[in-house]
Amino acid sequence: MYIYDDYDQALVDQRVAQFADQTNRFLAGELTGEEFRPLRLQNGLYIQRHAPMLRVAIPYGHLRADQVRKLAAIARTYDRSYAHFTTRQNIQYNWPKLEDVPAILAELATVQMHAIQTSGNCIRNTTTDQFAGVAFDEIVDPRPWCEIIRQWSTFHPEFAHLPRKFKIAVSGSVGDRAATLVHDIGLHAVRNAAGEVGFKVLVGGGLGRTPIIGSVIRDFLEPHHLLTYLDAILRVYNRYGRRDNKYKARIKILVKAMTPESFAAKVEAEWAFLKDGPATLTQAEIDRVSQFFTAPAYETLPGDDAGFVQLQAENKAFARFVERNVFKHKQPGYVAVTLSLKKTGVAPGDATADQLDAVADLADQYAYGELRVSHEQNLILADVKQSDVAALWESAKALGLATPNIGLLTDIIACPGGDFCDLANAKSIPIAEGVQKLFDNLDDLFDLGELDLNISGCMNSCGHHHVGNIGILGVDKNGSEWYQISLGGRQGYEASLGKVIGPSFAQDDVPGVIRQVIDVFVEQREGDERFIDVFDRVGIEPFKARVYQKERAHG
Ligand code: HEM
Ligand code: SF4
Repeated sequence: MYIYDDYDQALVDQRVAQFADQTNRFLAGELTGEEFRPLRLQNGLYIQRHAPMLRVAIPYGHLRADQVRKLAAIARTYDRSYAHFTTRQNIQYNWPKLEDVPAILAELATVQMHAIQTSGNCIRNTTTDQFAGVAFDEIVDPRPWCEIIRQWSTFHPEFAHLPRKFKIAVSGSVGDRAATLVHDIGLHAVRNAAGEVGFKVLVGGGLGRTPIIGSVIRDFLEPHHLLTYLDAILRVYNRYGRRDNKYKARIKILVKAMTPESFAAKVEAEWAFLKDGPATLTQAEIDRVSQFFTAPAYETLPGDDAGFVQLQAENKAFARFVERNVFKHKQPGYVAVTLSLKKTGVAPGDATADQLDAVADLADQYAYGELRVSHEQNLILADVKQSDVAALWESAKALGLATPNIGLLTDIIACPGGDFCDLANAKSIPIAEGVQKLFDNLDDLFDLGELDLNISGCMNSCGHHHVGNIGILGVDKNGSEWYQISLGGRQGYEASLGKVIGPSFAQDDVPGVIRQVIDVFVEQREGDERFIDVFDRVGIEPFKARVYQKERAHG
């Protein structure tokens, strides 16, 4: 994991001091709300429905145990003893007091964490695969590249006031677990014909009110050109992106308006000035950053552990946990274990301070003191010996973190919605709970197979509803809360946007409608087909026919 040098620490400490001063001046009435707004936004502070909301970055989703304990302590001291993990590898506090925020930031700085650039029209936290560095299908470890991007983008003066926010995701594997196609820039590690590793570059993906899948603008970028090429993309966006209309300001709108081909041509023209210039990455710089991401001191183990294999044969509950929550590791005898933050009745992505402390202990005990966060709002211990999984499972069960539902219907991605967010049209959390309750039986849940259900409380799409196999979107109708349902979205390298099934539904009807959608899937299913396979084969009509057969829907 990256360790701050003196320069990094000084930078973060100075920023904390600056923000403390700005907050004090605002509280003393020396700064207006309007003057304070951009200052607080660049430090992750929103003003929300009930209280301010503070968003803290978890760069590329990595946390050390001491950082997790600090997050827990902050939740206990300054918030209501819990925090929320988001879809972009951040953690949010929903109830801090404005006057406490400088103290929270000072505490974070002691464990090399910050909230810089977690909101505002700047380059946000760069995200990646939660299995980075350990995935069996990895082409290159994306973490050094994310760190290089973080160092380049943090306080980059030219890109501090972009037309709109800007999000970058990097995937180093054959499978995309970082939602790269719905980011402003998505980088995919690829090999060229000569076997060299480079990046395929996509731009203009995004969700929100105008969801668009990213377009490839370069098939192969040699890694040492990464920053000059990113500079070129950002320059084109900074120059041509629309500043007159907030809803048209994201790069996706520019790329669409220009066409990806002419956007790419503009980037190449700009890059001609930058290529091989001073921002070109030297091997020494790549090595300097990479040395922070070496593998831990793995034991040499003989492949599969006999006890681990045997317990799966003997204990159905353990076998289920392994099937869903354990991911294949590149090191023999090791696995990555996902702790589910999707237990029925708990808001998706929420963790209590006590759970965080306990998970920090598990990380120390079983995973070299490290924890990961996924964009699907779960926690991961990435380097666990197979022989330790049974003991870890017992501890996780006691903590309510062992629900064996990763990738299944109840592993719901959801934004905070109307319970917390000022922009919401409708609540998300009770909808998630309603659906989870309906599918709480594990036999049924497993029978349904892999299925993504995502919920957003408004068209800003923080809950990725467009790319859920089933998507639920909160809409406002004459001041009351309604829900629009879409089907057929998917994430990954084959990402696609769901189709709206028809008129929206009242809150109480949503679980029943989801039940009907699932019934159609089960009736139409052949063999072990997944929901999305059935949808691709039969289309939306059979689903539509079923859910609108009764007079439930209202235009
Ligand atoms: C409660 C405070 C929040 C506010 C005010 C907020 C605001 C917004 C807005 C305005 C957008 C649309 C941006 C655009 O299309 O230009 C957006 C998108 C997004 N937000 Fe949030 N959000 C909040 C919380 C969250 C949370 C909790 C998550 C994760 C669970 C999240 C993750 C995202 C993602 C992934 C997108 C869509 C991707 C994209 O940028 O196109 N946000 N948010
Ligand atoms: S999708 Fe809407 S309701 Fe949900 S967090 Fe984002 S802005 Fe708020």
